[in-house]
Amino acid sequence: MQVLDSKQFAAAPTHVAIIMDGNGRWAKARGLPRLAGHQRGAEAVRVAVESCRELEVGYLTLYAFSSENWKRPPSEVDDLMALLRHYLRREISELHGNNVRVRFIGDHVPLAGDIKSLIAEAETKTAANTGLTLTIAINYGSHNEILSACKKVAKGVEDGSLEPDSITEEVFERFLDTADIPPPDLLIRTSGEQRLSNFLLWQLAYSELIFMDTLWPDFTKRNLEEAINEFHGRDRRYGARSG
Ligand code: FPP
Repeated sequence: MQVLDSKQFAAAPTHVAIIMDGNGRWAKARGLPRLAGHQRGAEAVRVAVESCRELEVGYLTLYAFSSENWKRPPSEVDDLMALLRHYLRREISELHGNNVRVRFIGDHVPLAGDIKSLIAEAETKTAANTGLTLTIAINYGSHNEILSACKKVAKGVEDGSLEPDSITEEVFERFLDTADIPPPDLLIRTSGEQRLSNFLLWQLAYSELIFMDTLWPDFTKRNLEEAINEFHGRDRRYGARSG
């Protein structure tokens, strides 16, 4: 496959979403504990953010912790939370310095108090930035997001602020966690798995899906460029005919 250099990416997709998968297998293949895979996964997050900045992607959304990840052994959940905490403490100043706007989606009620504070701090500090918008999904699950949106819509109808006939797709989307973010143009999942795993189910309706064998800790700018290259080769029709 011919790989374009970054100067040829004038029309990079506006929004790239990534299911970061394969940390455990990366560690297992090296006889290392799963934590080592997650740590290298956090380094790959830096690579992905940098690459998106360089390629002028507008929005990057990362699935860091799903609502189903609580089912993992408590020690692994603790490790993942500690990594998130560490990432938020260590990276936010640099992200801010690079004009990155950081946002979070998901249900943050069950998260530890200090993580909630770090999330709020990161969002406030970077709110006015105009470069890449980095959205990190923590305790996120699409079913829960859509259900919460339905409840808010139902309450709006109940208190008279919403007319049932006025509830269009655009109106409904305002109640999703991603209200002010355009839908992903491209979804990448690493590690060879071909599932959406309850990630952005509403928002991915017309996205191009690219599944790559690379394990997340090995993800490079070249992987992103290849995915974008493949994305450009796809014929996006949004249900219409191509000719
Ligand atoms: C999937 O690998 C990955 C996760 C469940 C967590 C993703 C977390 C990170 C990349 C690190 C922290 C994130 C940030 C934003 C700092 P897996 O454990 O399911 O791998 P496996 O399928 O090979 O076991």
